[in-house]
Amino acid sequence: MSQEFQGKTVIVTGAGSGIGLATATRFVEEGAQVIAGDLDVSAVSGLSGPGSVTGVEVDLRGDGGERLAQAALDAYGKIDVLVCCAGVAPTRTGLSDTGDKDVMNTFDVNVLGVLRCARAAVPHMAKAGKGSVVAIASDFGRMPEPLFYDYCMSKAAVLSFMKSLSIEFGPQGVRANCVSPGATRTPIWEKPGGFIDLLAEMYGGMERDKVIDHFAKEHKKFALQRIGEPEEVAEVVLFLTSDRASFVTGSDYWVNGGSMPVY
Ligand SMILES: NC(=O)c1ccc[n+]([C@@H]2O[C@H](COP(=O)([O-])OP(=O)(O)OC[C@H]3O[C@@H](n4cnc5c(N)ncnc54)[C@H](O)[C@@H]3O)[C@@H](O)[C@H]2O)c1
Repeated sequence: MSQEFQGKTVIVTGAGSGIGLATATRFVEEGAQVIAGDLDVSAVSGLSGPGSVTGVEVDLRGDGGERLAQAALDAYGKIDVLVCCAGVAPTRTGLSDTGDKDVMNTFDVNVLGVLRCARAAVPHMAKAGKGSVVAIASDFGRMPEPLFYDYCMSKAAVLSFMKSLSIEFGPQGVRANCVSPGATRTPIWEKPGGFIDLLAEMYGGMERDKVIDHFAKEHKKFALQRIGEPEEVAEVVLFLTSDRASFVTGSDYWVNGGSMPVY
């Protein structure tokens, strides 16, 4: 490990699980002092140095963004990096199943959660003349489908929001980018009632351990013939937030194994 984040203060939301946990893990390995926010932060207590991690239980539908920024400022007096991983991905059967309250809840976490964190953290970065923000969007932000009406809309909104952020704060040295994963093996897939169960039913009662292979190779025909691992997404997040990506802003990096049929 190069410890290229030594001395950097990094906020990661959604750090209790999946892509957020993998991201927080890599930052700690690279020497960062991580403020890890989630509804449940028990998983981050197992992370160990060279860097450090402080778990903060927050709900991003409320004042969670402000509390994370304050925790970083109280402990370290600065915020270098903000990574917004927290998200919900509810499934719908179609338009008639996509109610106002459902949409508002998805937007509350996926869109306003990012906006609130940025509003709390970015002015401090701008004052310091440097900083980097990454939001985890999704390839569904550009490639929507009706099984996830509101989720897809929310991720399109995140792409738009991050572009505006990059334009407003670029002159003050703050970079803002998205990472758009494709299918990535996390609890969203694995949990009971998650995507594996949903697809198993869609594939006529297929056995759980055959579902992902069928999905990647036969159904979606991903170029790399598999779904991703959270660590593969985290690696791109670390690149984008590092000084190695010093001229990258306003962009969206696809980490999807070739699932996007556009060029
Ligand atoms: N896994 C995939 O296939 C995939 C694909 C594309 C994009 N994404 C995106 O990646 C991000 C991470 O997803 P994941 O697969 O790791 O899921 P995950 O469920 O493992 O992790 C999401 C985390 O967000 C937290 N969270 C949800 N609502 C919250 C709230 N109100 N306040 C605070 N924390 C909250 C959850 O507690 C959870 O720990 C999400 O934004 C998701 O939309 C995932």
